[in-house]
Parts: sequence; structure tokens; C-alpha cells
Amino acid sequence: MKERILVVDDEAVIAKALVKHLSREGYEVDSASDGPEAIEKHKEKTFDLMLTDLKLPSFSGIDLIRESKTINPDLSCIVMTGYGSITTAVEAMKNGAFHYVTKPFELDDVSQLIATALEHVRLQEQNRILQRQIKTRYGFENIIGTSDEIKEVLRLVNQVADTDSTVLILGESGTGKELVAKAIHYNSRRSIKSMVPVNCGAIPENLLESELFGHMKGSFTGAINSKIGRFEMANGGTIFLDEIGDMSLRLQVKILRVLQEKKFEPVGSTKTTEVDVRIIAATNQDLEKLAEKGQFREDLFYRLNVIPITIPPLRHRICDIPLLVEHFLKIFSESNKLPPPRLDDDMLETLMKYKWPGNVRELENTIERLTVLKPGKTITLDDLPEKFLEVNTVMMRHSAFPIPDDGISLKNVVDDFENTLILKALDKTGWNKNKAANLLKLNRTTLVEKIKKKQLEKHVN
Ligand SMILES: Nc1ncnc2c1ncn2[C@@H]1O[C@H](COP(=O)(O)OP(=O)(O)OP(=O)(O)O)[C@@H](O)[C@H]1O
Ligand SMILES: [Mg+2]
Repeated sequence: MKERILVVDDEAVIAKALVKHLSREGYEVDSASDGPEAIEKHKEKTFDLMLTDLKLPSFSGIDLIRESKTINPDLSCIVMTGYGSITTAVEAMKNGAFHYVTKPFELDDVSQLIATALEHVRLQEQNRILQRQIKTRYGFENIIGTSDEIKEVLRLVNQVADTDSTVLILGESGTGKELVAKAIHYNSRRSIKSMVPVNCGAIPENLLESELFGHMKGSFTGAINSKIGRFEMANGGTIFLDEIGDMSLRLQVKILRVLQEKKFEPVGSTKTTEVDVRIIAATNQDLEKLAEKGQFREDLFYRLNVIPITIPPLRHRICDIPLLVEHFLKIFSESNKLPPPRLDDDMLETLMKYKWPGNVRELENTIERLTVLKPGKTITLDDLPEKFLEVNTVMMRHSAFPIPDDGISLKNVVDDFENTLILKALDKTGWNKNKAANLLKLNRTTLVEKIKKKQLEKHVN
């Protein structure tokens, strides 16, 4: 689509020359000879750029810019000014003009300026789109769950996001600590800058210091060049100190100082660096306990613990499981372009009973595997890893077989149960003994013997 330019000048010769020149350059150009006419044109269609004379008969170019922008806030403006009125041109820029040209001008200079202004608008627009994408990607809506526990997490995230307070995110592995950290950062005014993550547990202690604070050339063997650290990279944004419980006591002192004074010295430097960084820390350890054992500085703990957000393990918010299952089914079937597998209520119940030691990450991986391996299929217990079978055994222990006060005959109950399972497998496979034996993980001969011995043939229906 052609970009639209409105030329406003009461000197008809200039306006005409500009319209002709800019049309030839490929723009869609229109013109107006004074303010009111220009306003009318803005009401008729959306222009990308307005090139206006500063001195117009009825109202000034500055007023025109102001008024035009109320109609079209994204309008880019360039003013034309006579020699000697630069101060007014500067005034116009303060009121939202992108730049100015002094008359008389070369047409090519004007084209150049227009191209730059439009490029600027395009970049701004792109930036806005990216910002919006990031916001939706890391927005609150991506934290799935309706349990009271997750609602409380979301409430806190919402409340602290746009402040500069230090946040400490606590939770078992895979509960969504990084997800929450991102939601906080990308919903804060710091979101135009980066959130820089540091996994304190994964970087060896001797490297972590220079990773965090940077180092000077020659400050240690191997420091061939100076390097800036993650705190510096996060300037204006957020640093995410993940697994902070794994940090050595020596480095904890330096972190404490950054928290208190926003200052540090890069390794090998005597010069102090100042940064404006928000700190979000996370851990799956109990920092208070570590502090009691002398493995974590108590003063740092209190400094970090200004706003603690605890994400409960998945097994404590099982009502979120069906929603998460649905969410991940959608994500993985869409990204792999596969039909989602079907999970019936029994299956969901099994997933809700399982303890999920790896929390949401484990659930996410389970659903990804099912989507890829069983697209469009109905999932049965056999499709799940063995650890889920234990769930059912435990379920049976608790519910299906209450032992009455006068006792039961173990042999009879076990026999009955065995019969039921064999018949179920036979029914399911249309009495195909090979398939039934497979389902029961028996060899065919054993199954056939059992059917005979237990006289199960009479149950064929
Ligand atoms: N409530 C949730 N809604 C949607 N996705 C979630 C939720 N919680 C966690 N996830 C997803 O689960 C995965 C693990 O989350 P994340 O990496 O944030 O956990 P973590 O607590 O940082 O884990 P670790 O301690 O292992 O680093 C991610 O892919 C994340 O997007
Ligand atoms: Mg993490």
C-alpha cells in the first residue's frame, strides 16, 4: 500500500511542486492550502505523514500539528519554515513534529527527510507489535489455573508487577517460577528493557562472579578481553537470579550490596559501577532453613524476602490439572500440526491422582509425548509410563476393597479380581486370546490355561 502524505502550504507553487515530486517518488499525495482544509482532509482519510508550512493564513502550523494529532495520533509531521524562524521550528518539534526543513529547500532533501520519518514510524509500529506479542506471550493469561492457590499467585503478581520491589519466588521444581518471573517483568514498566536470567546453580562458582558483575581485561587467566556482566546487561530492566539458594556465601555478600546500594565493582576493577536493576530471585530450597544452617546469609534472605510469592506444588491444586491438560493439548497439537489425543474422564482422574513430583513441567512433557506418539487416538492407561500404574494400585487400596470387620478370604477376592481382569481383557479384544494376553502382559499359553481352569468360556456374551 502506498504511504499517504498531506502537503499543507498556502503558496500554491510550492505545494504543487511538492505534490508532483512526491507522487513521482511513489507516495499517495494530497494537498491543502490552510489549516481548516487540512483538518477536513484528516477527517476524510488517514495520512502517514504531514508536511506543513509553519506560517499559515488562519492558524499556525503548530496548532495544526496539535489538532491533527488528536484526529490521528500516529501521524508523523515535518514542518517547513522560512529562514530565521528556527526557534519556532524547534517549538514545533516540541509539539510533536518529527523534524523541520528550511525554505528554500532542495526537493531531494525533503524526500530524504520524509523517508527517514516514515521509517521511524514503521519501526515504532513494529516495536509496538512486538511489545504486544511479548505481553500476550508472557501475560497473566498464560499462567493457567483457577485454583485458589493460583488465583493468589496471580493477585500478587498483578500487585507487584509495576513496582520496583524485590520479589522472591518459591516453589518446587517445575511449578512455574520462571513463568511467574516473566509475567512480572513483562507487565512492568521495565518491559521495554530485558529480563536477564542467571542460573546461579548451573554456573561454576569461579565463573559466576564475572558472569554477574563482568570483568576487566587481564583480571584473571583467560580474561583476554573485558566483559560486561549480567547486572550491567539488565540495566533499566530486570535480573532473574534463579536457584539463588545455590549461590556461595562470598557472592551473596556482593548481591547484598547491589540490593542495598545498586553498586558493584567488576572483577579486577577498582571503579564502581552503578545500575538500575530490579531483582527477582527464585529457589526451590528453604532459604530460612539454609540460613539456620549457616549456608545462606540471613541478611540477604530478609532483603530478598520483601515480597515472597509461593507457588504451591501441582498435587495441592489438582483442580488445575484438567485445565493444564487442555492447555498443553492445544499447544502441542497446534505446534506439531497433529490432531490432539483424546483423554476420557477415567484418564483425567488418573492424572489428577498422580503426585506429579516434577509438577507442571512433568505434566507438560507427558502431554507432549502423548500428542506426538498418539495423535488423534484415545489414550488408555497402557499409554502412560509405568509410574501411573501405581496410582491405580493405590486408588484400589483406598477405595475398591474395604475389608469388613469379620474379614475376607484373600484367595477368593484375588481370584474374583483376576477373573474380572481377564474377562475385561477378553471382552475388550473380542475374545482374541493373543491380544488379550498382550494386554495382560501374559504369554498366550498361560492365559489359555487360566481360562480353562477358571472355566471362563461360559462367560462369553
Ligand atoms: N500455571 C501454568 N500455566 C501454564 N504453564 C505453566 C504453568 N506453570 C508452569 N508452566 C509451564 O511449565 C514449565 C515449567 O515452568 P518453569 O520453568 O517456569 O518452572 P520452574 O519453577 O522455573 O522450574 P525449575 O525449578 O525446574 O527451574 C514451563 O514450560 C512453563 O511454561
Ligand atoms: Mg526455573
